Amino acid sequence: MSVPGLETALTRTLGCRYPIVQTAMGWVADPGLVAATTNAGGFGFLAAATMGEGEVGPAIEAVKAATDGPFGVNFHMFQPNADEVIEEILKHRVAAVSYGRGPDAATIGRFREAGITCMPTVGAAKHAVKAVQLGANVITIQGAEGGGHTGSVPTSLLLPQVLDAVDVPVVAAGGFHDGRGLAAALAWGASGIAMGTRFLLTEDSPVHRDTLARYLETGDPAVIRVTKSVDGLPQRFIENEELRRLDEMRGLTRLIASLRHAHSWGRSKGMGYGQMLKTAWKSMHADDAGFAATVMAPNLPTLVEKGLVAGDTRHGLLPSGQVAAVIDRLEPCSALIERIAGEARERLDALCHPGTEKEDTA
Ligand SMILES: Cc1cc2nc3c(=O)[nH]c(=O)nc-3n(C[C@H](O)[C@H](O)[C@H](O)COP(=O)(O)O)c2cc1C
Repeated sequence: MSVPGLETALTRTLGCRYPIVQTAMGWVADPGLVAATTNAGGFGFLAAATMGEGEVGPAIEAVKAATDGPFGVNFHMFQPNADEVIEEILKHRVAAVSYGRGPDAATIGRFREAGITCMPTVGAAKHAVKAVQLGANVITIQGAEGGGHTGSVPTSLLLPQVLDAVDVPVVAAGGFHDGRGLAAALAWGASGIAMGTRFLLTEDSPVHRDTLARYLETGDPAVIRVTKSVDGLPQRFIENEELRRLDEMRGLTRLIASLRHAHSWGRSKGMGYGQMLKTAWKSMHADDAGFAATVMAPNLPTLVEKGLVAGDTRHGLLPSGQVAAVIDRLEPCSALIERIAGEARERLDALCHPGTEKEDTA
């Protein structure tokens, strides 16, 4: 059931109470976070892109055991077990899938036939148009200020561009954390907001407590910056010792470090050398990021796991949206979602009753 004033095309399509999405985040959006979001009336996406063989089915079942509400699964086509993830999604008929570097039209067609909403995230208007041509029925835009892999166009420019370019509901992501942001996105014409970093910084987050404390003390959006040094693609991290070290690495040293990470990551996922090479070959040929991204990609899981799971905030990586700099406390998902919905209603009411904005009375 949706809430008067906050019912949108998104709540109707996904079947959630509030137009508030918790996006997928590797090592963060686990069954506990997804269920906490969904039980609070938001819509949670399980992060399956970083899950190994045999992990996705049990994770979906764990969410189902913890909530009766609708939820989604995120994956990408270049993970080694993409075929397995697709079959699990279809078998469990989750409410929605999200993806970036995504599946082809035939796979999207299979999802849609099963009644699964296809909701890719894009960082440029031309990618939104292409995604809709391939069959997407909702688009999430992620402005440059967002966490994880990110484009260069800020939310304030990308959102109206995409709203003009496509005829499906659009969800705004990148920099959102409160009800003012939700009200603004709805005023723009979006059907809701999606947040990553804000959900990472909740009491339901599985991230190591030392790492959460490090995120909360960031304070300055400028130190949460984009680099291509980790996996060859632009991605946003909190500045730390490890990020500076990777930025300074050159040529052969970079290659050797990546191969070392590839080896330990592949081994931890139970992969043999043949499967590691096959995965590298697949992503190198299917993605325009090319050779550099393929060679450097193994840096990401090893170092992010160290930062988020092991709590090593100096030698691990800390992926984050710039919004972490304006968040100063953890909240349970339930309190967060109710607060955002309440603040948004207040702002929307105020717009209908002008005269409540701040004035210079000096
Ligand atoms: C720690 C972290 C991990 C992420 N992992 C993924 C992922 O596995 N798949 C994905 O599509 N996006 C991933 N993202 C991007 C988020 O899903 C989301 O689009 C982004 O965080 C939105 O911007 P915000 O952080 O300003 O809310 C990640 C972001 C963060 C901060």
